[in-house]
Amino acid sequence: MKRSLISIQDFSVEELQELIDTANDIIARPEAYSECCRGRKLATLFFEPSTRTRLSFEAAMLELGGSVLGFSEAQSSSAAKGESVADTAKVISCYADIIAIRHPKEGAPLVAAMNATIPVINAGDGGHNHPTQTLADLLTIHREKGRLSHLTVGVCGDLKFGRTVHSLIAALSRYEDVRFVLISPEELKLPSYVKKELLRERGIPYTQTTDLEAVMPELDILYMTRVQRERFFNEEDYLRLKDSYILTPDKLANARDDLCIMHPLPRVNEISVTIDDDPRACYFKQVLYGKYMRMALILKLLKESGSL
Ligand code: CP
Repeated sequence: MKRSLISIQDFSVEELQELIDTANDIIARPEAYSECCRGRKLATLFFEPSTRTRLSFEAAMLELGGSVLGFSEAQSSSAAKGESVADTAKVISCYADIIAIRHPKEGAPLVAAMNATIPVINAGDGGHNHPTQTLADLLTIHREKGRLSHLTVGVCGDLKFGRTVHSLIAALSRYEDVRFVLISPEELKLPSYVKKELLRERGIPYTQTTDLEAVMPELDILYMTRVQRERFFNEEDYLRLKDSYILTPDKLANARDDLCIMHPLPRVNEISVTIDDDPRACYFKQVLYGKYMRMALILKLLKESGSL
């Protein structure tokens, strides 16, 4: 049966652990996986810009011995001539074994999955979800902290449009004794539907604040995010809010020694480059772990869909 990944909630906690275990095994024994996808093709359909997600998917498939094809902007595909996502998914099903799709419209990957005959992976849909970033985040936290439970997680910046934050909260809220500190300007607070469905209805503790420094000592994880110019209707609002939080060494004065500083990247101003050499900075490790989790994901979906 075809298996896709549209939302991180498509996977159980047990399946997330299975992916983490596979990724750790790939890190330990990469040669054992180097031919697993020989003869299989990944199509990357990117209707929105990307560096990490697209190239890590491509690197992942190449390191599994497979091949890649695709496009990196809507203008170079027949979407520019008016082709629908549904038709594109049907067409690509004739050429490839698995699809990774990024699209500015929320729900576009779901439409692709409903029309493709091959597995579809959501590589980011508008301000909605980014489940494979969450896979990278979970492996990072697991390797850095040794657990995914008993954590105080600060998420900071654009919590309104930040799809990485929505998917991360959806995942971590299923682990024991996880508490969230939501740090944002008033205008960029976590949407009510996310708070209701993922936090309040599950009884997950959370607090909201605008003051990053005040909550710093509480945090096991600090997940910084970019204020996303591309999601704003009004340039003035973006300019007013874009530098709401800039993490500099002085702001870490009261942080724990074992704080894990994360960011899905790209960063603009949110984390000073002077923090990059701090042992607590984990955001470039996150990039690397994303490749291993995408390798584990491709293997799982191809196996469960009967293609391996
Ligand atoms: N984190 C992330 O999604 O980065 P890209 O936009 O470069 O893919």
